[in-house]
Amino acid sequence: MKPKVYITRKLPSKIVQRLENVCEVKMWAEEDVPVPREVLLREIRDVDGLLCMLTETIDEEMIRYGQNLHIIANMAVGYNNIDVIAATKRGVIVTNTPGVLTETTADLTFALLMATARRIVEASEYIQNGQWKSWSPMQLVGQDVYGATIGFIGMGRIAEAVVKRAKGFDMNVLYYNRSQKPDLEQKYNMQFVELKTLLKEPDFVCILIPYSPDVHHLIGERELALMKESAILINTARGGIVDEKALFEALQRKTILAAGLDVFEEEPVSLENPLLTLPNVVALPHIGSSSEKTRLRMAELAADNIKGVLYGNGPLTSVN
Ligand code: GLV
Ligand code: GLV
Repeated sequence: MKPKVYITRKLPSKIVQRLENVCEVKMWAEEDVPVPREVLLREIRDVDGLLCMLTETIDEEMIRYGQNLHIIANMAVGYNNIDVIAATKRGVIVTNTPGVLTETTADLTFALLMATARRIVEASEYIQNGQWKSWSPMQLVGQDVYGATIGFIGMGRIAEAVVKRAKGFDMNVLYYNRSQKPDLEQKYNMQFVELKTLLKEPDFVCILIPYSPDVHHLIGERELALMKESAILINTARGGIVDEKALFEALQRKTILAAGLDVFEEEPVSLENPLLTLPNVVALPHIGSSSEKTRLRMAELAADNIKGVLYGNGPLTSVN
């Protein structure tokens, strides 16, 4: 008897076949709609492996329902959607997809930085709205990226990949992280600073830490007030790290210049979210890792983690 696997979102057949060769696979059939919780609570009952997305909340109750479950393979590097402690208690392995999405997510982080600094979206809308009457001296003036100071909250793989890009733009690099990284400081000529300084000095503040309740609203009213009026906030990590109400206030009152957001406190972001009404916000629908190659690699890695665990070779990238 082949082990059973449930996949919570429609994946390319190439990936599904990889698992079907060795497992009995059942898959939620829709590409754009997450599996309802009650369906997943039923499906998880008799599977050995679960391949899930960051849109599924895999909490203690869900894990308890998975009586035969050996592995939860998240198709994301972040795994704050999974109760890892509950999984560990029941001997269930949890895996994520680090490494394969690093450069793609760094590309998008830098794209958001460029787009906010040079007001790309606003400028494009300016043409489309018929506002372009003439070239003019101070039209849509933005901020320089080249030679500016960039500060990172977090210095993991993705942040390091953004540093490489920033160095190509001759940027001055500061970072704040739980642990200091002397090797990277030397390699990239960058400086470790306290969070206060990290907020005060840079022209760009990039958030690249994993989400956990400890960092919920790490960036709130007080922190935003420390940033320069010309500073831009970029968040490609998780929405919950920033207090969106405070961010809206800061952007509206222009105590900071702009924000580039790929993540939100509630996703999908509601059209009622006032951040979407601001011209100085570039908002994206959580597409950090979304290149064709990378999304395939993430799905492949998640599938290989499942095969590894169910066939006794162990996981490739476990988090517990
Ligand atoms: C996406 O946000 C991920 O964690 O991979
Ligand atoms: C993710 O891969 C990170 O460590 O930043």
